[in-house]
Amino acid sequence: MSMSEHRKGMLSIRVWDFPTRLFHWSLVLLVSFSGITGEFGDDFGAQVLDWHARSGYAILTLLLFRLMWGFVGGTHARFRNFLRAPQTVIAYLRELRQAPQSRLRPGHNPLGGWSVAAMLTCLALQVGTGLFLTNDDLGFEGPLARHIGSHLADQLKALHAANFIVLLILIALHLFAIGFYYFSKGENLLRPMLTGDMPVAEGAVDAPSKGGHTLLGAAVMAIGAALAWFIVTRL
Ligand code: HEM
Ligand code: HEM
Repeated sequence: MSMSEHRKGMLSIRVWDFPTRLFHWSLVLLVSFSGITGEFGDDFGAQVLDWHARSGYAILTLLLFRLMWGFVGGTHARFRNFLRAPQTVIAYLRELRQAPQSRLRPGHNPLGGWSVAAMLTCLALQVGTGLFLTNDDLGFEGPLARHIGSHLADQLKALHAANFIVLLILIALHLFAIGFYYFSKGENLLRPMLTGDMPVAEGAVDAPSKGGHTLLGAAVMAIGAALAWFIVTRL
């Protein structure tokens, strides 16, 4: 539990464990790389698709890690602590409209929690469809492509392209939301995702994140990598 002096009358509490932050910023880099190599791959040639796929396998590893981390990670990384009932989301939206400045709480807010779930699901669909794709012109064959026929392959290719647009929209909403909290509510969500810590008023009842140790994160990441390796090379 890390509590430290922040400003006068303010304390800092741990909100995002290190593995969650490493997950996030790795995801940002890899998804950007995958998006660019996917969209412009044709212009660069065959090798780029190989790197597009490798980046996808790394994203698969991250997603498998995040799935497990949602059960064994630090407090605010756990699904049961941020996937809230619809009534809670609606109540939160009301509060958001009324209060000029909502109180910053540790962890994802009730709406943000579902947006995280949406992004993770969308990414899983993107990687999942990618594994089945081929590109004959560039001599590329995805690791699971041999299991399906050409008709289904064409449909999955279209889904891969369409779902990418959905992903871009979710990312745009994600960035818009972070900007909204910063400019309209005076809440800086970015700093906790960088440093792990968030300022809270002294005497506030907010619980700091517990657990989520880096060593456990490394072990869970290793399991994720092993599962991804199995899916890519053994299925
Ligand atoms: C490829 C682009 C991005 C993707 C796919 C993405 C995805 C995600 C995901 C999945 C989470 C949930 C973290 C978790 O609980 O595991 C998250 C949270 C977060 N992301 Fe991103 N992100 C992207 C870009 C960015 C960028 C560019 C920023 C910086 C402005 C950013 C700032 C944040 C912040 C501040 C949170 C925590 C939100 C909160 O307090 O609830 N993200 N993002
Ligand atoms: C989150 C991860 C991924 C992202 C963001 C992504 C994104 C994209 C995008 C934007 C395109 C261009 C779609 C179009 O307009 O035609 C594309 C194409 C493609 N992707 Fe991915 N992709 C991902 C994962 C994967 C994976 C894991 C594989 C294979 C193992 C893969 C294989 C392909 C192939 C073969 C194409 C070319 C399809 C064609 O021939 O037109 N992708 N991807």
